Amino acid sequence: MSRIVAPSMLSADFGNLNRDTKMIDASAAEWVHIDVMDGVFVPNISFGFPVIKVIKEATQKFLDVHLMIVNPEKYVTRFVEAGADLVTFHIEAVDSAMECIELIRKSGAKVGISIKPATPISAIESVLDKIDLVLIMSVEPGFGGQSFIGSSVQKAIDLKKIATNRNLELLIEMDGGISADNAGLLYDSGCDALVAGSAVFNAPDPHLEILKMINAE
Ligand code: DX5
Ligand code: ZN
Repeated sequence: MSRIVAPSMLSADFGNLNRDTKMIDASAAEWVHIDVMDGVFVPNISFGFPVIKVIKEATQKFLDVHLMIVNPEKYVTRFVEAGADLVTFHIEAVDSAMECIELIRKSGAKVGISIKPATPISAIESVLDKIDLVLIMSVEPGFGGQSFIGSSVQKAIDLKKIATNRNLELLIEMDGGISADNAGLLYDSGCDALVAGSAVFNAPDPHLEILKMINAE
């Protein structure tokens, strides 16, 4: 099973974005996680296309773009053009998941769907065979540095069971309140990729923190 770490650039130093991206590029983390917030879907605004382009130019890593925006179908193509390798939208933000899935596919990127802590897995069960990844939010989306919501673990276990029973090639990612302290449990519960913002960027040695997550028991 893969143990992917996806450091969230939301916790990077924006005055030194190029430096921080290169620091992640030189680490054992396989993905770079990019949080896009519109101030409507979530009560916070982060950044958009020009910032993603700067990150893309500074790294060879897989760009994992997490859209916390309303009407994602209007913008997914431009996120792929800006450098996204995977575009994840929220099921709570769309009327038609299929429309958004098809637009991302047509643009050539991988497709993810995210669910907020209160959204059950049943909300996305019918499209699991159409997507590459499910992003389980383990905090309310909008801000870094929040505490992990414990019930997210069961969601990963349940989703892994469904994916195995249906023989799906589905990646499971979790996002929010994750560090080396809970990474082992989460990988063992079925997660393939773990997002970590504050745990990585606030660590005295981010490279070591990423290794601790990958090797966590
Ligand atoms: C929250 C974002 C997360 C956030 C995680 O809305 O989706 O990716 O940056 O930050 P930490 O790891 O600090 O909880
Ligand atoms: Zn995120």
